[in-house]
Amino acid sequence: MPERIYNFSPGPATLPLSVLKEAASDIVNFNDKGIGLIELSHRSKEFMAVADETESLIRELLDVPDNYKVLFLQGGASSQFFMIPMNLLGSGKKATYLNTGVWSKKAIKEAENFGDITVAYSSADVSFNKVPQDSEYSVAPDSEYLYLVSNNTIYGTQFSKFPEKGAMLVCDMSSDILSRPLDISKFGIIFAGAQKNMGPAGVTVVIVRDDLLDKVAETVPTMLKYSTHAEKGSMFNTPPTFAIYCVGRVMRWLKNQGGVLSIQKRNEEKAALIYEVLDSGEFYHGHAEKSSRSMMNIAFNLPTPELEAAFIKEAAAIGFDGLKGHRSIGGCRASIYNAFPREGVEKLVQFMNKFSAENS
Ligand SMILES: Cc1ncc(COP(=O)(O)O)c(C=O)c1O
Repeated sequence: MPERIYNFSPGPATLPLSVLKEAASDIVNFNDKGIGLIELSHRSKEFMAVADETESLIRELLDVPDNYKVLFLQGGASSQFFMIPMNLLGSGKKATYLNTGVWSKKAIKEAENFGDITVAYSSADVSFNKVPQDSEYSVAPDSEYLYLVSNNTIYGTQFSKFPEKGAMLVCDMSSDILSRPLDISKFGIIFAGAQKNMGPAGVTVVIVRDDLLDKVAETVPTMLKYSTHAEKGSMFNTPPTFAIYCVGRVMRWLKNQGGVLSIQKRNEEKAALIYEVLDSGEFYHGHAEKSSRSMMNIAFNLPTPELEAAFIKEAAAIGFDGLKGHRSIGGCRASIYNAFPREGVEKLVQFMNKFSAENS
């Protein structure tokens, strides 16, 4: 096996090596049962124990109150863009959205099919380089919810503080869930695709407040009602068993790291190392405004596209993968989720300093 390299990919992303090794072995023989993990019936007692543990660790790590369900759904985080308004809106019902990038734009487009949507804020005119302060927008009192993306994966912006506008929050946390503690009671729905901070692609974790389950219209298809999945413990149909297992093992790993408070501290320290380089001279230019900087994705530019291409090429040659920025804004991006090791960040920083010294 070649040496593991540093994977700065925005998702699917770096996972703990211990989890990958355990999964590799469990795929062939789970619990010494003579059956591989992905061959087990989802209704077997072995798999039910896996699903139960995964759910209870998410509840414990995020301090999820009892009046919320934790669901394991499919269709990617993108399916939540329509499931949320399908379940919570309907003719004449209103919701407010904050447009902070590609993922909120896609959610707005879907929501417009199901309700009366107000886009109260947009940072499109500044290439989505920031997220708003509360004072920059208002929320109509008859809005069913205020929708936001907590971390904008492409632009490297993040809400450091969640809105305090009195509205129930509905939040896409695909790229920063479990990276910091949360007050879940401010949220009606939180959702996240697993493939950044939780595990492989294939499962979307949805945390939904109980009272919202009854809001759905009868005509919504059974599979698209949260209540269907809540009533059946995410086993209405065959769930993505392998992805749920991996999320559970990543949750065990996270608990062993000291939980979300400890990981938050480490995430802040890792990100600060890179931001220090961006702020130390004129060579690198961070995309995000300082007050909106993300701890998870750091998007930056070099003086010219040619230097950016050379930077990515040289980085790849020494074992740094996934540093190319998203096609919509170009440049470079380092994604450093929970499981990305500090040592890899330190090595990137050394490389950045060397590259700027040689090319300034
Ligand atoms: C913030 C955010 N939301 C949603 C998505 C879409 O996720 P999926 O590909 O699981 O539909 C992504 C993907 O990168 C994302 O970063």
